Amino acid sequence: GAVGEAIPHESAEAHVTGHALYTDDLGVRLQNLLHAWPLQAPHAHARVTRLHITPALEVPGVVRVLTAADVPGLNDAGVKHDEPLFPTEVMYYGHAVCWVLADSIEAARLGAQMIEVEYEPLPALLTLQEAIEAESFQGAQSTVHRGDVEHGFAQAAHVFGGEFEFGGQEHFYLETNAALAQVDEWGQVFVQSSTQHPTETQEIVAHVLGLASNEVTVQCLRMGGGFGGKEMQPHGYAAIAALGAVLTGRPVRLRLNRQQDLTLTGKRHPFHASWKVGFDADGHLLALQATLTSDGGWSLDLSEPVMARALCHIDNAYFIPHVEVHGRIAKTNKTSQTAFRGFGGPQGMLVIEDILGRCAPLLGLEPHELRARNFYQPGESTPYGQPVRHAERLHEVWGTLLGRSDFTARQAEVRAFNASHPHVKRGLAITPVKFGISFNFTAYNQAGALVHVYKDGSVLINHGGTEMGQGLHTKMLQVAATALGVPLSCVRLAPTRTDKVPNTSATAASSGADLNGGAIKDACEQIKARLASVAAGSLAAQAAKVSALGVNPGDVRFENGRVFPVGHPELGMDFRQVVHDAYHLRTQLWAAGYYRTPGLHWDRVAMRGEPFKYFSYGAAVSEVEVDGFTGAYRLRRVDILHDVGDSLSPLIDIGQVEGGFVQGAGWLTLEDLRWDTGGGPYRGRLATQAASTYKLPSLSEVPDVFNVALLERATESGVVYGSKAVGEPPLMLAISVREALRQAAAAFGPEGSSTLLASPATPEAVFWALDAARQASART
Ligand code: MTE
Ligand code: MOS
Repeated sequence: GAVGEAIPHESAEAHVTGHALYTDDLGVRLQNLLHAWPLQAPHAHARVTRLHITPALEVPGVVRVLTAADVPGLNDAGVKHDEPLFPTEVMYYGHAVCWVLADSIEAARLGAQMIEVEYEPLPALLTLQEAIEAESFQGAQSTVHRGDVEHGFAQAAHVFGGEFEFGGQEHFYLETNAALAQVDEWGQVFVQSSTQHPTETQEIVAHVLGLASNEVTVQCLRMGGGFGGKEMQPHGYAAIAALGAVLTGRPVRLRLNRQQDLTLTGKRHPFHASWKVGFDADGHLLALQATLTSDGGWSLDLSEPVMARALCHIDNAYFIPHVEVHGRIAKTNKTSQTAFRGFGGPQGMLVIEDILGRCAPLLGLEPHELRARNFYQPGESTPYGQPVRHAERLHEVWGTLLGRSDFTARQAEVRAFNASHPHVKRGLAITPVKFGISFNFTAYNQAGALVHVYKDGSVLINHGGTEMGQGLHTKMLQVAATALGVPLSCVRLAPTRTDKVPNTSATAASSGADLNGGAIKDACEQIKARLASVAAGSLAAQAAKVSALGVNPGDVRFENGRVFPVGHPELGMDFRQVVHDAYHLRTQLWAAGYYRTPGLHWDRVAMRGEPFKYFSYGAAVSEVEVDGFTGAYRLRRVDILHDVGDSLSPLIDIGQVEGGFVQGAGWLTLEDLRWDTGGGPYRGRLATQAASTYKLPSLSEVPDVFNVALLERATESGVVYGSKAVGEPPLMLAISVREALRQAAAAFGPEGSSTLLASPATPEAVFWALDAARQASART
């Protein structure tokens, strides 16, 4: 069977040879194409007092300027109705005020320069601290609550408190946001969009244009990376392109250049946490009280569900009897922060891991010992009331990885190395991941698929998920091939389109394969059941030659293009023959499949329930070496053991673990978003608006030794072919890198003192951490 086979990504060859097409490439083939360019405001917060577009229209090639007056439906790009597509109040530096359409990009750019805009600048809030002081919050506030924290603190032998503010992250997908819109001869609006959520893009385009959903079709061929950044951000760009196409009758191409994408679109939320924690004399967590404040930027976007996931992951792998964690969303004059791999989970988890890393020395415990001591035991539940099923897997992953990574021996080596090297220190850390799979919002946990078997036995599948490089399409091809019992080469996949599979959820929350795989399998099984009845008839005739028994449809097996009675592969016939016969017997050879995740419930006001189908587990060991003069560091070795159930596609899954880990290491150690927070004319401007100032991980930051393994014998019941989601959880394994850096920095100081480390832990931040440790040493 194809499921479980280690095969390359279905587009791997096209990716590396440049044959793979992306949304913007498709425009090249269109006649009469118009190009869109935004006019971006040079203020963090301002009222638009005058907008005079006529001079733009005098630029040769400019065809039209789109403004609020052109919107036939709702002037809004978001689902929360707080994102005017054409704003009269500029909410962040670079906010697009209007869009110019022209025969060339250059003409559109020149046209935008000619537009006369007057602004009345308004006071702007840029930092989390400023927003907290001004009590500038947006959306619902929520609290995860269990037990009685005061009682917990009263019992505690040790109580510590602190604050932790940490940075966000730019998605930096290779393909920037793009949309290509056309109106066909009967008025149907067709938008190709780099979107993880085609249905929602369709809905926003429809509400902007004042159309019904059946008048708008959205297609996503593939994306050059999404990472959550294309879950909600693409809608407005698709709406601009669609509006332009409707008003001009010409196809419109909108592709943000890198600087536009960086300055216009939302990023991972930065967070601030203030916390208080209580431990018993043995280092068991008794109580956690915390307030998390995320920086939501200028509008809500996905900030509420991102915060919900942060609150549901602040426990990570640890049982904490008394919990009271409050979440609120700051409103600032920045881009509207959004989904990013882990969706708030990484932020919640980072808070508890930072607490444990800081407190371990104060408790006189090794950090790995403190962590393991607090692991969930089978039978325990999360603070929001979900039983931690398979908690024993967490222990298994941890124990196995400690052994495989030779942790104890290497700890001794690191200690010896540090004792003999005053100016270079090493750190070794292991951290766990427990991540909930499913959308917190229960309704999103459904999916559809369409499977066609043609008369010649070839198969075409369509599903509601989008491909962003994560290998979803590869896995879906494998699921269909296995479910129908045909070779992989017989199955093709058609682009994701809202007119094929309607009402889809975002491809997000790592649940793409679980949900769409369930729907494809359902469709295939419907077809297979019909084919089995046909085959049973034909096979019975053959079987009668060797035995007196007939063949029940339930006893027909489909494997590798052959159809045979169970136990008698020699009596089989070709899948093609069965399909041929079935057609002539007037059998429906195609089916719509549907899946919804069973057993979920979530009360988002009380923040209680069982929002997740299961938890994904993993652990990572990272070893770093830090230079005491500069804070520069190297990631010497990483060992990972991660649970993906029975892998649907091991090469894809290993790639996801590696990529997720490196992206997480980028977030925590390299990528440093800076906004101008001063009082000058550029207040609010994103200072890091190019790869020259925003350091992404590259091949040179990949660890020298990188051992990634998938947990064996890990079948997960009730999920497609026993598999588990993989997309997001590995990102959080990178917390081990940060904790290793903390330990290396601590090694410059006296034994047993707590070490603070900023996030991102850039070389500069690591230098300040180790320098503080060194100063403490000098004093003792
Ligand atoms: N992998 C690649 N190569 N590119 C991406 O954009 N997005 C991540 C993850 N892995 C992403 C990726 C995110 S944020 C999610 S939610 C999942 O893939 C989505 O896909 P899935 O549900 O099919 O795992
Ligand atoms: Mo992923 S952040 O759920 O798109």
